[in-house]
Amino acid sequence: MTLTDTSPNARRDILITSALPYANGPIHIGHLVEYIQTDIWARFQKLRGHNCWYVCADDAHGTPIMLKARAEGITPEVLIARVGAEHQADFADFRIGFDNYHSTHSDENRYCATLIYERNRDKGHVTARTIHQAFDPVEQMFLPDRFIKGECPKCGAADQYGDNCEACGASYSPAELQNPRSVVSGAVPEQRESEHLFFRLADFEPMLREWTRGGGLQEQVANKLDEWFDAGLKEWDISRDAPYFGFEIPDHPGKFFYVWLDAPIGYMASFKHLCESERGRAAGLDFDAFWGKGSQAELYHFIGKDIIYFHALFWPAMLHGADFRTPTAIFAHGFLTVDGQKMSKSRGTFIKARTYLDHLNPEYLRYYFAAKLGPGVDDIDLSLDDFQARVNADLVGKVVNIASRTAGFITKRFGGRLAAELPEAGLFEEFAAAGQGIAEAYERREFSRAVRDIMALADRANQYIDEQAPWVIAKQDGRDAELQGICTQGLNLFRLLIGWLKPILPGTAEAAEAFLQIEPLTWEALSEPLLDHEIAKFKPLMTRVEPKHIEAVLAASKEDLAAAQQPTAGQSGETDTGGGHPAKDPIAETIDFDAFAKVDLRIARIAEAAPVEGADKLLQLTLDLGGGETRNVFAGIRKAYDPADLEGRLTVMVANLAPRKMRFGVSEGMVLAAGPGGKDVFILSPDAGAEPGMKVK
Ligand code: MSP
Ligand code: ZN
Repeated sequence: MTLTDTSPNARRDILITSALPYANGPIHIGHLVEYIQTDIWARFQKLRGHNCWYVCADDAHGTPIMLKARAEGITPEVLIARVGAEHQADFADFRIGFDNYHSTHSDENRYCATLIYERNRDKGHVTARTIHQAFDPVEQMFLPDRFIKGECPKCGAADQYGDNCEACGASYSPAELQNPRSVVSGAVPEQRESEHLFFRLADFEPMLREWTRGGGLQEQVANKLDEWFDAGLKEWDISRDAPYFGFEIPDHPGKFFYVWLDAPIGYMASFKHLCESERGRAAGLDFDAFWGKGSQAELYHFIGKDIIYFHALFWPAMLHGADFRTPTAIFAHGFLTVDGQKMSKSRGTFIKARTYLDHLNPEYLRYYFAAKLGPGVDDIDLSLDDFQARVNADLVGKVVNIASRTAGFITKRFGGRLAAELPEAGLFEEFAAAGQGIAEAYERREFSRAVRDIMALADRANQYIDEQAPWVIAKQDGRDAELQGICTQGLNLFRLLIGWLKPILPGTAEAAEAFLQIEPLTWEALSEPLLDHEIAKFKPLMTRVEPKHIEAVLAASKEDLAAAQQPTAGQSGETDTGGGHPAKDPIAETIDFDAFAKVDLRIARIAEAAPVEGADKLLQLTLDLGGGETRNVFAGIRKAYDPADLEGRLTVMVANLAPRKMRFGVSEGMVLAAGPGGKDVFILSPDAGAEPGMKVK
């Protein structure tokens, strides 16, 4: 292993992965801690000239995805295609530079999962056993623990999941839950028998103990593993009964691989897909050279601390059992908090990647996370005030400022040409020499240290410019050469800083390369100064973070929540953050006929329909109930209808709903809608024979 070998001369083969996001929910800023961390490291390795590849995929299988698709009235394939496209757009806009992004629901993954299963099975590492499991008699399906709710057997708290109690923290089995109900149908679950396949993890204990000590795990993670070894390695249930969205097990029709079996295999499948692509073939990428036993390539998985068990125990064991190499290292990180607290929908801090992108530059967040990230598993906090202060002070105030203080003179006075030599070559050398320490910090994933060192040098560069005061010299006759030299010196220091920041700020670096009119920077190129060279006119490379932009993100995140609570958009709003939360609302309690009869449903003409500023799911409707009576109603249907198409049409509304104050005004009623949400929501009534104010029977 070459974890500390930072010499640029040894060209390393490196394959890097981030955990595969579930294909049933949007990317949020918590996820981005991981994708940004991994991307910075991958970009750094590439900048150093290594043969480095970074792959990922959507994690597309499992019960929550199957049920979410069902609730939306679409096939899982359609759901995962839609979410996959959204994920990729979010990642691209955050400049996460995957070399390949694939899906676990792919031919390559089916092939690899089958191979790994069969090899382990043939060596006797898989056994079959009959288990009892909760079964939903209405939906005719077995229920994962998280799809059963009831009262806690310890403290009696209502509405607790089948595996643990959020009120008292107790863990238990779903069979112990009092008054259990299926989250899917509301039915009382039955216990049924089923034969399941188990992976004999304990077979691998000696190998895993050795692997743990091999230096590929962070200390805290290795300690955790020791606890697990002490507790004893249990057999792992790798099969699920139909209906299930996943891969059917070849020799067990009607049984499917559990999502977590084929999820990490998705890393391999994504890489295989890359090898077989035009780009992979052109690069001569060889699957076996990276995954075969005895491979000299380095393999790293970046993951969150919640999924260590899967990556540090099951995964190396499965690989070993199937005669593949094991990972070089697993890099676990902590969880994101916002202003010291868990991300919260009601506070507006559960921020989706897209919501952030609607208002803020992705480079800010990349920088902020880098400034906070270390090699450990500690949680990291996004303090919104600190975010604004740091980005403005460091990036705008220090780094970009060096160029904006010097470039203008080069353009106006010297036709854009840099001087042929540096007035202070020693200062440049001193800076260039600091590159080694910065590289070591990146290599060890001490990004916060790299950032601190780079900013200390940015201070030093600004101090140089302050001392030389080019703006004073510019006003004095006969000091042109001196002026050109100072500005050339300043821009060369700027170029070094940008080069070192390039893994963190790829967009800003690209703009700086265009401004300096240079080839894409490499680490190696930074050792030589840029002289006697024409640069372009300077344009500000980054603007300041404005408080109003942060406020807009928080407001929009709360608004997403408001829209999600609108019945019409319920299914397209926030869902779970991955694996396990109910994907479908159970039918509510019954109401008697009298209660129903109180609902006054009326035909209304949509007199006006208009978007609501700052609320991308809402339309404001003015509904004409006939006889001069109009109502103002907010409806979460913006994705489904162009306002212009609605005006003049008829709809059905609840006319006697008590007015409700919403963030954008008072809503005086509600329109009825059908459909899964998003684009597919239908609110119109046929025009023939209906007129405003007519009671609906
Ligand atoms: N699908 C699994 C991973 C399979 S890998 C073979 C999964 N998906 S996830 O969408 O829930 O999470 C993807 C990654 O994002 C995980 O590494 C997870 O730890 C990380 N994070 C999700 N929420 C996070 C925060 N709030 N903070 C930091 N990382 C978080 O797990
Ligand atoms: Zn409890």
